[in-house]
Amino acid sequence: MISDAMEKSLFKQLNDEFYSSYLYLAMSAYCNHLDFNGAANWLKLQYEEEQGHATRIYNYLIEQGAHVELQAIPQPPSSFGTILEVFNSSLHHEQKMTEKLNNLSDQALKEKDHATYNLLQWFVNEQVEEESTVGDIISKLKLVKEDGYGLLMIDNELGNRTLV
Ligand code: FEO
Repeated sequence: MISDAMEKSLFKQLNDEFYSSYLYLAMSAYCNHLDFNGAANWLKLQYEEEQGHATRIYNYLIEQGAHVELQAIPQPPSSFGTILEVFNSSLHHEQKMTEKLNNLSDQALKEKDHATYNLLQWFVNEQVEEESTVGDIISKLKLVKEDGYGLLMIDNELGNRTLV
């Protein structure tokens, strides 16, 4: 059993995870449009991963007996600038998600809701990995700047990503 306030906060987080998923699909479509098909693959897998995050929260809410209210998912942008700007947007988005998850964790601790706190710690750890992975991609993109061969190499590498 979780509090009404926590339920509401998790409905919001569920929506944010769906938005994340939608945002990554929009980024993937944009990269396909730019012919960065490796980056598009990477971002499409990220879209699937975010759906997994949403499902994790959804399943938890169901287990806790919540009557889940699904909210409208905002429309993501359709253009993101250069390939570097795409991944900068991703990092910025993940930093905002980390902040939200930290705030939710604070709320769970305040309510002595350890079950929800445990759920949230999985997400907090996941954020560390996501920010680090995107940060590494950004570093490489900054290194090669506009060099076509370098960009091709990075795109190939991103194309090798598979879901683990
Ligand atoms: Fe659901 Fe990108 O964290």
